[in-house]
Amino acid sequence: MGRSNTRFILSAFDRAHWPATDNRAEIAFAGRSNVGKSSCLNTLVGGSSVARVSKTPGRTQSINFFEVPRRGSNLLFADLPGYGYAKAPRSVTDKWDRMVGDYLSGRENLVLVVVLVDLRRDPTELDRRMVQWLDDAGRVGLLVLTKADKISKNKRLHRQMLICKGLGVSREASMLFSSQQKIGREELWLRIDEAARGLPEED
Ligand code: GTP
Ligand code: MG
Repeated sequence: MGRSNTRFILSAFDRAHWPATDNRAEIAFAGRSNVGKSSCLNTLVGGSSVARVSKTPGRTQSINFFEVPRRGSNLLFADLPGYGYAKAPRSVTDKWDRMVGDYLSGRENLVLVVVLVDLRRDPTELDRRMVQWLDDAGRVGLLVLTKADKISKNKRLHRQMLICKGLGVSREASMLFSSQQKIGREELWLRIDEAARGLPEED
């Protein structure tokens, strides 16, 4: 499960710093600040804290790249800076738009964009915009509804339907997740592997 040897590569502030893809399939993690992107990434790779988790929103302003060993080849994970950080000055949100827009439209080998939304919260305008951007860029998106541990089991499906409807995403393109209780970990790996198979084999 990529448990061992997940390696932080670098923090990129613009495209000149993006690591070479070298035929590696890349998966990006997007979502509002504090939604649990870094936690999700850590949960996938076995619970080690390879990506920095913070209680203070808006800490990560760069794209953080990781190399994840998987089934004899390597994947790249990209932890995107969170959006919707309250009180972010205009200069910061403009830079975010440019950086993430560049990345989503220009990144080769980006096979899947995991969009995280808190299962407890109604999606925001920025979540809608992210889904729209992916559509426009022709990217495959997967809606991961996280912090499911905070919602009682019998209410989860209802919340899932509401959020999907609010974002115009089909339920098949969404799933429940919790980093704390490891809900959805296997399913998310299946989706990632499936997306990565779309990439031509190495040499
Ligand atoms: P930014 O990098 O600031 O955009 O945040 P992020 O989206 O990477 O969120 P991060 O993973 O740092 O988690 C933010 C907070 O939410 C931390 O206090 C986590 O412990 C908590 N958290 C993340 N995932 C879950 C979850 O599945 N369940 C619960 N209960 N808490 C979670
Ligand atoms: Mg983070």
